[in-house]
Amino acid sequence: MIEKLATWQARHSKIPFEMFALERDADEARRMDKLRHIYHRGQDLAWDGRDVLGELLEKHGGITVAPAHAAALGRVFEIILWGELAAWKISAELADEIVPLEAKMAATAQSHDEARHFYVMYDYLRALGYTPTRIDPYSQRVLDLTLGARSLVHKILGMQLMLETIALTIFAEVRESKVEPVLADLLHYYEKDEARHVGLGTQFLPTLLRRQTTLEAADTMLFQARLVFWSTASLKAMERDLHVLGIEAPHLIERGKRIQGKAYAEMWEQLGGAPASNEWINRILNGVDAAVFPGVDVEVHLADRWKRFVTGFRAPAVG
Ligand SMILES: [Fe+2]
Ligand SMILES: [Fe+2]
Repeated sequence: MIEKLATWQARHSKIPFEMFALERDADEARRMDKLRHIYHRGQDLAWDGRDVLGELLEKHGGITVAPAHAAALGRVFEIILWGELAAWKISAELADEIVPLEAKMAATAQSHDEARHFYVMYDYLRALGYTPTRIDPYSQRVLDLTLGARSLVHKILGMQLMLETIALTIFAEVRESKVEPVLADLLHYYEKDEARHVGLGTQFLPTLLRRQTTLEAADTMLFQARLVFWSTASLKAMERDLHVLGIEAPHLIERGKRIQGKAYAEMWEQLGGAPASNEWINRILNGVDAAVFPGVDVEVHLADRWKRFVTGFRAPAVG
């Protein structure tokens, strides 16, 4: 009687007993190996955020930033701070939801990294004399959209391929601008970790995308379009602060597209090439960016914005 009850109740379980029975082709097996490697690299390269920040503050004699730069730096990196929390939440969800062992391991390692990124960025901002409160509504929309994603594909696409590559771009630009030496050195550590996180997206997404129905694929495109829209609005909101720090939005966009393009190319290679619609989407985005970012304090009339769109649309894709 008890046995029957237990067997009946065992029909529903949160333990995926079938996880080792999933079929894998050679391609997928190779990608899973890479994902397992991401977990072990994460363990080998884990750094102690308290020690690293303490050592960097000592090495540079504390934080040295021009008063004109401090507030802008604080505002830009508050967006990064909450982005790190979003990354922590999403990677923890992925660690729970993903079934294949190696991808689950990679997501778990990422979650450990993001916890460190979050607390170290908070400590850094406090050392800068900046108190995090709230971010602009556009950047918040980007984070909320990703946090509210319904499917694994959307979560990974939004976080690992979009937000991680945007963060990598901002980190590289701020590091090179040398606006604050402690942060410039600290970002080296962040960039190494974030590059592994992009790897989770490029290596695991092909497995999920292959199983998508046409309707799901269309829904994914729509999700991506919404994310791009709000990311562009977020960058527009950040544009002036970035300009104060010596970073121009068009330059940042070009670099971001190169980093993102590399990640997408790696993913499409696994899927037998980029979809035909890709070139047109890139052309439209280039046109939009050219029209929306003519430069800080540059007045542009509607007709000129249209001209900028057309020129951007016609320009060869950034590769
Ligand atoms: Fe991070
Ligand atoms: Fe990350």
